[in-house]
Amino acid sequence: MTARIIDGTAIARQVLDELRAEVERLRASDVEPGLAVVLVGDNPSSVSYVRGKTRDAAEIGIRSETIRLSAEVTQDALLAMVADLNADPRWHGVLVQLPLPAHIDETAVITSIAPEKDVDGLTPVNVGRLFRGEPALTSCTPTGVQQMLMRSGYDPAGKHVVICGRSNLVGKPLAGLLMRKAPGGNATVTVCHTATHDIGEHTRRADIVIAAMGRPNAITAEMVREGAVVIDVGVNAVPDATKKSGRRLVGDVDFDAVAAKAEAITPVPGGVGPMTRAMLLYNTVVAARGGPAPVV
Ligand SMILES: NC(=O)c1ccc[n+]([C@@H]2O[C@H](COP(=O)([O-])OP(=O)(O)OC[C@H]3O[C@@H](n4cnc5c(N)ncnc54)[C@H](OP(=O)(O)O)[C@@H]3O)[C@@H](O)[C@H]2O)c1
Repeated sequence: MTARIIDGTAIARQVLDELRAEVERLRASDVEPGLAVVLVGDNPSSVSYVRGKTRDAAEIGIRSETIRLSAEVTQDALLAMVADLNADPRWHGVLVQLPLPAHIDETAVITSIAPEKDVDGLTPVNVGRLFRGEPALTSCTPTGVQQMLMRSGYDPAGKHVVICGRSNLVGKPLAGLLMRKAPGGNATVTVCHTATHDIGEHTRRADIVIAAMGRPNAITAEMVREGAVVIDVGVNAVPDATKKSGRRLVGDVDFDAVAAKAEAITPVPGGVGPMTRAMLLYNTVVAARGGPAPVV
């Protein structure tokens, strides 16, 4: 078997087209969706991520602004900035780019974002709502993975999904989304982590394997059963002397070997990454529309 490639770039483009149409409808009813992004310091990766986010927003008609603060900003000043953005009706989404400098308590900052503007879906209120099965803005990468599965015909309902990784950003909210009693959910979910005795024992029984560990080649062909669907969230830079930069990006999955066995697989790059970006705008549109719809 040679796996079908699940093309995240193409699916994200489809999502962005739908969002563009929805933004036009909102604008026609005098709602101008707005996204405020706070960027602290000048970490090159963060600067580049934020630039990408605001460029994507502009492309589909979402007004966005980046508020840049010095790396020496105090926590109180940052919290005051978030409070201002929370109170400003021009912004439906407020995002603080992570990571923050070491002197700032990230949890305190994330928690200060108004839940209805929390387009990264990381506040305790939204995470709690997700796990309670209540309407919630949900974390972008997990939401992107769920959309990818649904839009490529791999509804997780009734399937056994094994997620490798339990971070607050990816693994945990993904488990919450896929087990939710709602469209796109209803899976039986197993979550593996560094204390899991034998990950392969679990992944070999999975209909859908999702790798989110940040470990190149952690998922090998012998860990995946014939015909499984494999989603690779990992992004890892590995040395590559043939590249000008001296490195290249790979996921957590031994791509060629696993693709020979799986029914479908996501590439890195061009898989989950573009979906994550699209879901930030999806959440912004949802927030501008008045919040997430109830789920069953
Ligand atoms: N494509 C995208 O848009 C996107 C978005 C976000 C993240 N990512 C990528 O996804 C990966 C995961 O990100 P993250 O933020 O979730 O990372 P993280 O916070 O470092 O969490 C990694 C998780 O994987 C588990 N883990 C690590 N090594 C393992 C191993 N050998 N066996 C089993 N479990 C292991 C850890 O277990 P413990 O909890 O036991 O430590 C932890 O739960 C990274 O490569 C990141 O760059 C991609």
